[in-house]
Amino acid sequence: MKKLFAAFVIAALPTLSFAAGPGIALDKVDIDLTDKAAMQDGARTFANYCMGCHSAQYQRYERVADDLGIPHEVMLENLIFNDAKIGDHMKIGMKPEDGKAWFGAAPPDLTLVARVRGNDWLYTYLRTFYEDPTRPLGANNKVFPNVGMPNVLVGLQGRQYIGCKQVQVVEDGKKQFDPLTGTPITHEACDQLTIEPKTGSLTEAEFDEKIQNLVTFLAYSANPVKLKSQRIGTYVLLYLAFFFVFAYLLKREYWKDVH
Ligand code: HEC
Repeated sequence: MKKLFAAFVIAALPTLSFAAGPGIALDKVDIDLTDKAAMQDGARTFANYCMGCHSAQYQRYERVADDLGIPHEVMLENLIFNDAKIGDHMKIGMKPEDGKAWFGAAPPDLTLVARVRGNDWLYTYLRTFYEDPTRPLGANNKVFPNVGMPNVLVGLQGRQYIGCKQVQVVEDGKKQFDPLTGTPITHEACDQLTIEPKTGSLTEAEFDEKIQNLVTFLAYSANPVKLKSQRIGTYVLLYLAFFFVFAYLLKREYWKDVH
């Protein structure tokens, strides 16, 4: 029993210790692990913008290509930038000690990050980098304060700043309005992010979708058998339903003689 309890605590640890930063609400993201187009787009973004620093070394290129319906030639040409072969693990050349020297922390492997951090955390993290001249690389992050990672997506998202804005008061999940005038009740909040228009190549909605796709890819990567196990589960249920009919008929046949 004690052992079981210990196992439970260990299993629950990641969820406990990696809950959002200090009191930050995470933005929710819908992840559809059957949406291959989304995962392909996410894989492309991952190869282009993340694999300079992060590996996904428990995953092979070939498996990703096959699972997401990407032809091997396309994978080799467009998503593999080193001399890796299609059957290789998704490793990178950067040494952890170099990463630590350059960024203050080594970029961790991301194969399983969606399981550790959760999809909502990733979705929020990747959209909340902002300019902060006090940081060594000029960027900070809302859910990962003083992060070592530079803002690598600034070219897509545009320059984002943090500052004070009037925001509508929300109580129990409901936006508050003045009962007399019907106008929104606001207060000043100083942790509000604003993107400077036209400084990124994507609109805000397009950027959000790009990140949703990227998180979908990371969610797939952390659990590549999920799709398969769901499919197998369906077959098992169908088999049981089918088998039940025969078992029942057989039972009736046997009991006929008993009565
Ligand atoms: C220039 C190098 C660099 C690039 C490119 C980069 N990162 Fe990072 N990333 C880092 C470093 C360094 C850290 C560690 C930050 C720390 O611990 O302070 C990090 C941390 C992270 C973390 C937090 C991991 C954890 O659980 O602590 C996530 C998630 C992440 N990166 C995702 C991405 C994604 C997705 C991309 C591509 C869009 C990307 N990174 C591109 C350097 C990079």
